[in-house]
Amino acid sequence: MASHLIFGVPATLFILLIIAIALRRTRRLYDEAQRREAAEGALRQAQRLEAIGHLTGGVAHDFNNLLMIVSGSAERLRRDLTSEKHRRIIDMIMNATSRGESLTRQLLAFSRRQMLTPAVIDLSKRLPELKDMLTRSLRDDITAEIAIPDESCAVKVDPSELELAILNLAVNARDAMPRGGTLSITVEPVVLEGKPAEEGLSGEFVAIRVSDTGGGIAPDILPHVFEPYFTTKEVGKGTGLGLSQVYGFAKQSGGTATIASTVGRGTVITLYLPRTQELPGASAARMQPEAAPLRAGTALVVEDSPEVAEVAAAYFQQLGYMVKQARGASEALEVLGKDANIELVFSDILMPGGMNGVELGHAIRRRYPAVPVLLATGYSESARDAVQQGFVVLQKPFDVAALDQALREARKGKVEPAPGLAG
Ligand SMILES: Nc1ncnc2c1ncn2[C@@H]1O[C@H](COP(=O)(O)OP(=O)(O)O)[C@@H](O)[C@H]1O
Ligand SMILES: [Mg+2]
Repeated sequence: MASHLIFGVPATLFILLIIAIALRRTRRLYDEAQRREAAEGALRQAQRLEAIGHLTGGVAHDFNNLLMIVSGSAERLRRDLTSEKHRRIIDMIMNATSRGESLTRQLLAFSRRQMLTPAVIDLSKRLPELKDMLTRSLRDDITAEIAIPDESCAVKVDPSELELAILNLAVNARDAMPRGGTLSITVEPVVLEGKPAEEGLSGEFVAIRVSDTGGGIAPDILPHVFEPYFTTKEVGKGTGLGLSQVYGFAKQSGGTATIASTVGRGTVITLYLPRTQELPGASAARMQPEAAPLRAGTALVVEDSPEVAEVAAAYFQQLGYMVKQARGASEALEVLGKDANIELVFSDILMPGGMNGVELGHAIRRRYPAVPVLLATGYSESARDAVQQGFVVLQKPFDVAALDQALREARKGKVEPAPGLAG
């Protein structure tokens, strides 16, 4: 009996200990597996959004070019029409193209190919200023709260895209709270450490959290909400482009957006934007409209698509220029060599075969330093490169007013060429 106890008790304790260790290990393995699954899920999600972004960006870019041909041709027709009825028809075409252009802009925003004009903004100052705009887009039964830290939280992003993102989030929160609730926005400086949940970002960021006390999002829907055109709202109530703008804007600004939601409790969307040490008001080249008309001369339009070239040429003529055309960079240099009257070159950036617009721009700077160059593109990457190299870049599709503005910039830019780049 005694021997039974002498061996029995320690043996039982030993077995219990083994069981406890085994349970702990299983627990750890389980946690580890869950973490891994979450990380893989986040990666898959990011990859899927990337793939959709490629597709939508490509389609949007090609559509932009087509829309420009349609709207440009309609605009030209309109000037020659005298019948009121025909003018109304043309107006309908032009309205439709401008709706199309804003649609492609949204798609380009998602695919991170939109042209952005970043400026340094202190979110601790800027967000409280947005409160009025937010309150107007909410309902009376929704309370808006904004909490900001004492310190300044500067980021360098496109101010109007930031506003649009916040507005999109507020509108979603409103729709999620049909019986009222609270929308709260907080700003907080954070340090990210490369975790998959934040798409591996690391460094200093500012987190903008937008939370609501609405119905939440079901787990099977959650992975899709950032996709363009994903909506659970009735036709006419939602476009499915709100969160895709938010996500694309955050990504293109060097950050990301994450979402967490509990059905019946509410949703939190966090925008992470890289923190900057730059001071607000330092950047953002503002375009000032000028009253003085330009003295126009002969412009050389370099564009491989004949229809886009025709529209562009018509705009130049409308602005008082005489127009010469070239289909590519080498033809452009040839024309420049023969015709000393050309006062300005307007070129598309992406052209098939040989030199692109930026390279052409550099060649012109070397050989004809007095001739201003204006570049045009629908792609943000190529635009960014060109701007960094000191060129004025016009976003496609453009209208005659935008062209006029850009021409003024390009001609003004001639007075002070970008330092060290002209060679
Ligand atoms: N705050 C939110 N609460 C609940 N569901 C949301 C919230 N924000 C977005 N969603 C869901 O994500 C979908 C996509 O949102 P969004 O891209 O803004 O498009 P839209 O609002 O036009 O439907 C919505 O239809 C909705 O199902
Ligand atoms: Mg929405």
